Amino acid sequence: MRSQYCGTVDAGFIDQEVTVCGWVHSRRDHGGVIFIDLRDRDGVVQIVVDPDTAEIFAIAEQVRNEYVLKITGRVRRRPDGTINKELPTGEIEVLAKQLEVLNAAETPPFQIDDVDVQEETRMRFRYIDLRRPVMQQRMRMRSAVTRHLREYLDSNGFLDVETPILTRATPEGARDYLVPSRTHQGEFFALPQSPQLFKQILMMSGLDRYYQFARCFRDEDLRADRQPEFSQLDIEMSFVEEDDIMNITENMMREVFKTLLDVDLPNPFPRMPYAEAMHRFGSDKPDLRIDLELVELSDLMANVEFKVFSEPALDPAGRVAALRLPGGNKLTRKEIDNLTVFVGRYGARGLAYIKCNDIAAGRDGLQSPIVKHIPEDVLAAIVERTAAVDGDLIFFGAGAGNIVSDSLGALRVKLGNDHGLVKEGWQPLWVVEFPMFEWDGRDKRWAAMHHPFTAPTSTDIEALAADPGKALSRAYDMVLNGSEIGGGSIRIHNMQMQQSVLELLGIDEQEAEDKFGFLLNALRYGAPPHGGIAFGIDRLVMLIAGAATIRDVMAFPKTQSASCLLTNAPGEVSSRQMRELGLRSRKGPEAQG
Ligand code: AMO
Repeated sequence: MRSQYCGTVDAGFIDQEVTVCGWVHSRRDHGGVIFIDLRDRDGVVQIVVDPDTAEIFAIAEQVRNEYVLKITGRVRRRPDGTINKELPTGEIEVLAKQLEVLNAAETPPFQIDDVDVQEETRMRFRYIDLRRPVMQQRMRMRSAVTRHLREYLDSNGFLDVETPILTRATPEGARDYLVPSRTHQGEFFALPQSPQLFKQILMMSGLDRYYQFARCFRDEDLRADRQPEFSQLDIEMSFVEEDDIMNITENMMREVFKTLLDVDLPNPFPRMPYAEAMHRFGSDKPDLRIDLELVELSDLMANVEFKVFSEPALDPAGRVAALRLPGGNKLTRKEIDNLTVFVGRYGARGLAYIKCNDIAAGRDGLQSPIVKHIPEDVLAAIVERTAAVDGDLIFFGAGAGNIVSDSLGALRVKLGNDHGLVKEGWQPLWVVEFPMFEWDGRDKRWAAMHHPFTAPTSTDIEALAADPGKALSRAYDMVLNGSEIGGGSIRIHNMQMQQSVLELLGIDEQEAEDKFGFLLNALRYGAPPHGGIAFGIDRLVMLIAGAATIRDVMAFPKTQSASCLLTNAPGEVSSRQMRELGLRSRKGPEAQG
């Protein structure tokens, strides 16, 4: 229907005839001459409809925003003074000779260039939202990212293999999405939380190098960087160790960033043990663009009489730490109260602070509700250790170790963002040496920190069982600007070790057999050493495209409450379908009947 995209008609086409198709971005009536900005995927071109061409002028008078048009005309240079150098099409306009309305449009619920539209409206009318240039740009970027990743893996000998969507539960720590089986009534498929077990089976099948852009499903609390349905670039390799996987995948990221953004990521990426990351940044995905660091105070606080500090300082599972905000003593009472509420969301019971007004004056120069509880020498040591200077503010976290780390870690990022302390650029790193297990206080049992198929650093099964809390795993996470963009590990390829780990996790032999019997069996028949990783594609594209949430880089995302406003999914099904599946609902008309 057309000779080229609207956005590509530049000065090179002057005096040529072109045919373009697209949407009316805007229409202006200028003293008898009608200007139409016609928009398509590639941009906007200015169309001029002259009253001399009376027949099409009459049509042009009728068109409204978002009408779909086909226009043929001659390209000419715009008059001096109306040239727009910013646009590729800004030097020209198309004098319409033919104009056809391919489709009319009702008044759209929002203007394409309105930047302040409620997300709910955007989701409901996603087809209009996606017409916005910024969304088009993001979709293109996403396509470019996956294309480059795919090319890299193809050229490195990886095979693209698809794995089932209707499957059994894979334990990645979230709730499953279940699909009832009609042919086996009372039984359910689970949608995969990841292709983890299948990719390991592929290694046991001798495929050696696998990848897949895999859709994963997790019924978990949603956040800006979490969706119930998301995409992983899933990778697995045989006869490898940590370095092999880390080297090949960080190289992949370097190539993608170089090609798409002309950015040179560091070579190699820095590596940081989990313990160090928690210690210095209170997070296992530290944003290294922010210079603020947590400072350990447990030793200093152990002997003060102030119990809020001394008790956690003396408790092996407790922690007392500080975070200094340069120039922070100008924070108002209200701002500090708001930050107290903020850390409360991470479980912190308060947020003590000291304003450093005049350090040379000792206690008198420190403004705070807590200084009276702390001896002079300890105050001096705190100031020294945090490297505080006049004008700074020191925040304190005291309590259970994980709560202090989480809350001060989150506070660090918030302060960084609120006070312009986030440096420009890209800061990738690997976080390594994760604990194998974490204690689940609610269920009173050990849980896998990564997943139950991750290998421990030691092959000593007895030592592992004797002190699970000490064991480290062969897992690694790739972190970029404070976002966990990928995670993986070397896997257990020894059947006994796999059984012991499952046992430690409280999964008895019968349950293990029921849930993962196929994997345990496969381990008996010649499983190679293997390992892999999976990258969150949505998160990666979100960072590359500079979007604020992963919803902005997904064509059809779900809302915070995991529904699709475009299609109104999930929805009720007919009672006939329910009967066929052998199901009865406890909600809705069925239940009442
Ligand atoms: P993991 O659970 O760490 O590992 O997931 C890998 C990566 O997927 C992304 N991700 C998500 N993205 C959007 N929404 C979500 N709900 C979501 N959950 C995770 C993150 C994360 O780093 N099978 C293992 C991988 C392996 O061991 O090879 C796994 O799934 O960026």
